[in-house]
Amino acid sequence: MRRVLVTGSSGQVGAAACAVLEAAGWNPSRFDLVEGQDVRDGSAVFDAAAGCEAIVHAGAIAHDSAGTPDEIVATNVLGTWHVLSAAEAHGVDRLVYFSSGQVFGFADGEGTPDSFPINDSFPLRAARPYGMSKRLAEAMCEMWTARTGISTVVLRPVMILDDATLARTNEADVEFGAFVHVDDVAAAVRLALESPIEGHIRMILCGPGPFDTSVAETTLGWRPTRAWQS
Ligand SMILES: NC(=O)c1ccc[n+]([C@@H]2O[C@H](COP(=O)([O-])OP(=O)(O)OC[C@H]3O[C@@H](n4cnc5c(N)ncnc54)[C@H](O)[C@@H]3O)[C@@H](O)[C@H]2O)c1
Repeated sequence: MRRVLVTGSSGQVGAAACAVLEAAGWNPSRFDLVEGQDVRDGSAVFDAAAGCEAIVHAGAIAHDSAGTPDEIVATNVLGTWHVLSAAEAHGVDRLVYFSSGQVFGFADGEGTPDSFPINDSFPLRAARPYGMSKRLAEAMCEMWTARTGISTVVLRPVMILDDATLARTNEADVEFGAFVHVDDVAAAVRLALESPIEGHIRMILCGPGPFDTSVAETTLGWRPTRAWQS
């Protein structure tokens, strides 16, 4: 079985991704702080990546409200450094990195788009710790690809909802009415691992709405299956 290291495997995305990957014949190696494994510990990440042909890096402090700026940078930036270093050291073929739709700098009133739909070519203007950490990590992925040739697929989901959170959320309560279902995100992870991709690429994941998902559609054949119920 093809072994894949999944960081953040106890979180919303990591758990869903592990289930999809297992069903598809992958052998996910789980790595999460709640299990005592820390991406801030470079040697722990190095050991965990041994024997893996791919890495899905979803482990992170997932919002500005979830940690101090120092904690966010240590986990999301230094943690990604450790993951990329381990990938290089072990000759891992592909890294799927979880960035965020927040890289553009429109979250929580930070800024306003000049036009819609928001697409992957928009300038990256996030300047708060979480959005900055994702911008820096995206750039590290790009530089690692340039230097080592490892393929890095950057996924940029907007707000991720599961069935339970979707049932109690209104379109008007969500920024730009933009969400993506966790099952669609997990499907994208499998496609990002299995599609014939070379180099570094970044793509928005969003349900039907104000974000353009054409890069994910073209590159992965991914399409959202879930939308707001009218
Ligand atoms: N949830 C969203 O709406 C959303 C939107 C866009 C992007 N993202 C990104 O997607 C990824 C997954 O998000 P999620 O919704 O599953 O978040 P989550 O908070 O449910 O899961 C994140 C997981 O990372 C783990 N983690 C935190 N610090 C760690 C560390 N130092 N070492 C190892 N593991 C650590 C946590 O224990 C948790 O299980 C994150 O990178 C997040 O930034 C999430």
